[in-house]
Amino acid sequence: MEKPDPTSTPTLAEWKQGIVSRSPEETAWLAAGLAGLLPENTALALHGDLGAGKTTFVRGFARALGIQSPVTSPTYSIFTIYESPTRQLVHMDAFRLATPQDADTLVLWDLLRTPWTLAVEWPDKLGDRLPENAWHLEFAIKSADRHFIRLR
Ligand SMILES: Nc1ncnc2c1ncn2[C@@H]1O[C@H](COP(=O)(O)OP(=O)(O)OP(=O)(O)O)[C@@H](O)[C@H]1O
Ligand SMILES: [Mg+2]
Repeated sequence: MEKPDPTSTPTLAEWKQGIVSRSPEETAWLAAGLAGLLPENTALALHGDLGAGKTTFVRGFARALGIQSPVTSPTYSIFTIYESPTRQLVHMDAFRLATPQDADTLVLWDLLRTPWTLAVEWPDKLGDRLPENAWHLEFAIKSADRHFIRLR
């Protein structure tokens, strides 16, 4: 799918084919649409290179949940918890974890309050610690103005 219909966000089938985003705003808009498709209490694993748009995506996802506070990369804090009227959003950036075992010290799992979404950048750094029902999104930069996002 080259360009989403501006009147409707992509379907699950379209997400699986992959979607081209032509701007950070479009990535945020796409994320808001996916927020409506993702079941509660599900982890969202955000794979992809530096600058591919993972944090931009979480920003749009947070807006869709009604979260007003600025969403920045939690690279140094590892994770940030946002409370919204409808859902708790936990945004994790695992990039700086030296080993997956380090995640066990974070008590992150004890902090989840249903209904939650756990969005994780650099999920491979967690080893096998993500829930099995996690949704996996792959981000890639095709060119300066074409970022590609696909649901695995
Ligand atoms: N279509 C697009 N979607 C998202 N970001 C885009 C797009 N086009 C350009 N950009 C730019 O690419 C950058 C994406 O940055 P972002 O922090 O979201 O990436 P990231 O995947 O979280 O990187 P990191 O792995 O370093 O955390 C931003 O500077 C944004 O303005
Ligand atoms: Mg990021």
